[in-house]
Amino acid sequence: MEERLQKLLAKAGIASRRSAEQLIRDGRIQVNGQVVTNMGCKADPSRDCITFDGRQISSEQKMYILLNKPAGYVTTLSDPQKRPVVTDLVADIPFRLFPVGRLDIDTEGALLMTNDGALTNTILHPRFEIKKTYEALVSGIPSASALKHLSEGIEIDGVRTRPAKIRVLKKTHTQTLIEVVIHEGRKRQVRKMFQAIHHKVLHLKRVAYGKLTLGNLASGKYKTLSAADIKKIFS
Ligand code: URA
Repeated sequence: MEERLQKLLAKAGIASRRSAEQLIRDGRIQVNGQVVTNMGCKADPSRDCITFDGRQISSEQKMYILLNKPAGYVTTLSDPQKRPVVTDLVADIPFRLFPVGRLDIDTEGALLMTNDGALTNTILHPRFEIKKTYEALVSGIPSASALKHLSEGIEIDGVRTRPAKIRVLKKTHTQTLIEVVIHEGRKRQVRKMFQAIHHKVLHLKRVAYGKLTLGNLASGKYKTLSAADIKKIFS
């Protein structure tokens, strides 16, 4: 079916409609080998060859990546305060990828990004209870009873958290590194959980979604995910 180019580019996740118009104006879009600068141009992706900077686009093509988000980046597409945003780190990808959920600006680690809205909704839907694993470095040494309290559920903002898995990984005289596995995604949840037992989170990193781990992915880098990787998120 023929549709306006800017609509097709938006559907393919290349750009918003307005940015797509700019790409067209800049001569970066070709249809069947011809640069198109006319805003009214229509094309049919099943019949026409549409390219962006020489790369063929398809409205069906989906892309999935795992980014190792550094601290200091905002999980958004653009920031009015002009702080660095996660999409800056994937600017070389010719698709408009959206973060799946969010990590606080001061949290680092595993952040999924995709142009697949259906998968995003599935992952974020509480029914699927996707497991998220964090490593939290906290001040002091929480008592065993405080940690038990956390694992059984604790009230934050008037609502009890669901059971969590809590495991001490390392201890010094002044700090404790704790693994926290939760199935929820409430705002600043891990920080608030520790705040409730009076231990400040000094450093927070998400290390895995389900069984999909960061592995040795460097901070600020991403890896593209295969179908097998996506499966691991649900396991
Ligand atoms: N919990 C937090 O407190 N912050 C995050 O970014 C994610 C989970």
